[in-house]
Amino acid sequence: MKIPIKNICCIGAGYVGGPTMAVLAYKCPQITINVVDVNQNRIDSWNSQDLSKLPIFEPGLKEIITKTRNKNLFFSIHIGECIANADMVFISVNTPTKTKGLGAGKASDLKWVEASARQVALHAKAHTIVVEKSTLPVRTAEVVTKILKSSNNYENLKRKSSFDILSNPEFLSEGSAIDDLFNPDRVLIGGESQDAMNSLGEIYKNWVPEEKILYTNIWSSELAKLTANAFLAQRISSINAIGALCEATGADVREVARAIGTDSRIGSKFLNSGPGFGGSCFKKDILNLVYLADYYGLKEVANFWEEVVKLNDWHQHRISRLIIKKLFGTVSGKKICILGFSFKSNTNDTRESAAINICRDLIEEGAILFINDPKVEPKQIAIDLNKDEYKELKDINKIQLLNVEGLWCFEENIYNAFENADAIVVLTEWHEYSLIDWGIASRKVRKPCFIFDSRSILVKEDIVKNDLNFWRVGDGNCP
Ligand code: UDX
Ligand code: ADP
Repeated sequence: MKIPIKNICCIGAGYVGGPTMAVLAYKCPQITINVVDVNQNRIDSWNSQDLSKLPIFEPGLKEIITKTRNKNLFFSIHIGECIANADMVFISVNTPTKTKGLGAGKASDLKWVEASARQVALHAKAHTIVVEKSTLPVRTAEVVTKILKSSNNYENLKRKSSFDILSNPEFLSEGSAIDDLFNPDRVLIGGESQDAMNSLGEIYKNWVPEEKILYTNIWSSELAKLTANAFLAQRISSINAIGALCEATGADVREVARAIGTDSRIGSKFLNSGPGFGGSCFKKDILNLVYLADYYGLKEVANFWEEVVKLNDWHQHRISRLIIKKLFGTVSGKKICILGFSFKSNTNDTRESAAINICRDLIEEGAILFINDPKVEPKQIAIDLNKDEYKELKDINKIQLLNVEGLWCFEENIYNAFENADAIVVLTEWHEYSLIDWGIASRKVRKPCFIFDSRSILVKEDIVKNDLNFWRVGDGNCP
């Protein structure tokens, strides 16, 4: 038997909750969906009439929001009321890595998941299916179940509330979230109650072919999410490690990637060498896996996966060191133009972005950074760098007079940012950066000027012919 779902509440209006529920509402007009959050500002942004003010940027999101908002999709802070009316509650809150206490630096902080479970226990009125959507450490469902069941007290009996817990990890990738939600490789549903799993499965069947909906036990589902991210991140650390070797030996990592990618057992995806992986999931999920393996006494397993993260950190700092070395061993007082701050293109998300470590290193060494990004707000960069924007730098002619070092400012116009620059560093693969006119750039910069392409989006010949020095990640043929 499956219980038809008419009303959904999603706790957490973030990168996962927002787009996922927007697509669900679009594909299932018969279901009413309330996305709730404790953060009033975030909810206000989701409700903003000006769609450029939505709290996250995702290609295609605005269009879906226009079609669903205030029809069957609502954003609100009325958490209790929305839970009470729901047949199904998705938990989509943040689960950052713990910064202190037991498991600090590795384990996920589950306090927001716990708080959400308590809210569900407090407000649910009838049978409620609780779906874990956030990426969670394995066996989190146990915690959620305990909280929900332990509140199976007199109050709950009176309200006739009972619960089923499901795990339904999200595999969407930022920047292509809407497309990933429309055409998922698979939908994973883990749980104990076949009825509850069927109810969730029925929702997805509105647009996902049946054979793509996989049912597993709850622990396999939770572990599959961590494992998928660990495998993907591992590929990136692998190719970045080989890239460093290419630079040393005269090989080219793009050629190596193409050659190995044609092996159908390896495949061609996720073999782009870059500045190191970022994003909210990869590092966090691997560290979760490491913590879990450690917990079960599997030291070798823990060490194996931890190396993927260590290699990534090393690689990011390697790029900063390389920039300094190419600029004659010092960047103090030199102007460096940073192109891109988000962790990948087509998103305004900067969580764990390689740009953070690289910019911090350069600022620490005294560089003056002019940072550009088409979607990231300067105030977010200030938070990430833990250093205020120094707006006075905007007056180009003042830089030399100011005799300053270790500062940054935001520059919307990339050609203005090139004025007197000693180096230009591409850190995010935004399309507009591949369209730069290097003839114009060459006339603006201070020579000798170095162009660093950590994303392989620039055409080497265009740069070299304009009397600019060129370095590209994993290219052993750059001088
Ligand atoms: C990832 C997973 O792909 C997704 O399934 C999961 O749900 C969440 O985590 P996301 O972090 O949004 O998604 O982006 P992804 O495209 O995986 O990229 C992660 C990082 O790896 C980015 O910094 C990206 O630039 C980098 N990357 C990716 C590379 O350096 N090379 C590649 O070949 C691919
Ligand atoms: P993710 O990338 O996992 O979606 P985000 O940080 O973008 O993470 O979003 C998580 C959202 O969850 C935030 O907007 C946060 O305010 C919200 N949140 C956290 N805890 C609760 C809670 N107990 N009740 C409601 N919303 C919550």
